[in-house]
Amino acid sequence: MGYSIAVVGGDGTGPEVIREGLKCLRAVDDIYSLDLSFTEMDLSGDRYKSTGKLLEEEDIATLKAHDGIYLGAIGHTEVTPGILEKGILLKMRFDLDQYINYRPVRLYPNVYTPLKDKRPEDIDYVVIRENTGGLYTGVGSFEDKGTPEEVATQSMIYTRKQVERCVRFAYETAQKRRKKLTLCGKTNVLTYVYDLWERVMNELHDEYSDVEIDYVHVDAVCIYMVECPERFDVIVTGNMFGDIITDLAAVTQGGMGVAAGANINPEGLSMFEPIGGTAPNFTGLDQINPMAAIGAAHLMLDYFGETEAAKALETAKISVIQTMDSMAAGKMGMSTSEVGDRVVEALQSTTSKNV
Ligand code: IPM
Ligand code: MN
Repeated sequence: MGYSIAVVGGDGTGPEVIREGLKCLRAVDDIYSLDLSFTEMDLSGDRYKSTGKLLEEEDIATLKAHDGIYLGAIGHTEVTPGILEKGILLKMRFDLDQYINYRPVRLYPNVYTPLKDKRPEDIDYVVIRENTGGLYTGVGSFEDKGTPEEVATQSMIYTRKQVERCVRFAYETAQKRRKKLTLCGKTNVLTYVYDLWERVMNELHDEYSDVEIDYVHVDAVCIYMVECPERFDVIVTGNMFGDIITDLAAVTQGGMGVAAGANINPEGLSMFEPIGGTAPNFTGLDQINPMAAIGAAHLMLDYFGETEAAKALETAKISVIQTMDSMAAGKMGMSTSEVGDRVVEALQSTTSKNV
């Protein structure tokens, strides 16, 4: 038994935050005997710069020999935008068919939110972003490139199957929560793609009739996320809108220092990551907040079905968050490694009290 985890620190502050996450996972393993094993893999902008390698067939084969992927961040200031994103991160999501991007949005107590008068109980929802299709499909072209007559296109493509499996997952997520599902779309302009999404949501409703459904245009979703986030339980949306609204959502829950996400293939191999990126200005300073990476670690445990261990890690994380000055890098009132150490201590002391 046990769980084998492929660990990809990646670039920038990725390895630093993953180191703290691993510290916590090892501590959880000591307490709950989960028999976790870790394989470090070098997939990064640095490797690309020195070898020209992105995510290669043999890397995918190695990844597939594991039960989960724990990833820091991938990006390099000296590599043209798009190469690493498409060649490593998006390729992983696509090739492993991780069709759900699962983003919990939860404001923990005593974390600063720019939303005036909103409390933790007001900001507690999940965004289910479709993760393999839409504008990310990469279908597009230039015509007459570089001329005054140039035309550039990029297609938003969705098959019914892609939409259906994502909407089902969202319904099932809602059934485990407060049973409310909101489709975030743009049916007034994207009259093909979001028409399909809306029809699929309505057609499937018969099978999930205990879930209340709601449709909101993406621009209005942005308003509600700021003015009344309490109206959301589960939001489901396509890839591009999901990318955008989850960054806005992250800011409302305390920023990139706390926001984590899971790239899920419910029938296959899933990947868990902090969503903050490589933070090049903070690399190597021991100042970056590892809480998002620790959040990705408990998302992974939860996904493995290790609910109690996941809960314990999240509880320890929340208790340490209470003692931090800020969630922002460099302003935490403690170093990156100290955050990890304190979460480990909190985990050990709370769980030993319970035994
Ligand atoms: C994210 C990121 C990626 C995306 C980038 C790095 C390609 O912004 O995970 O949200 O757009 O999906
Ligand atoms: Mn993004």
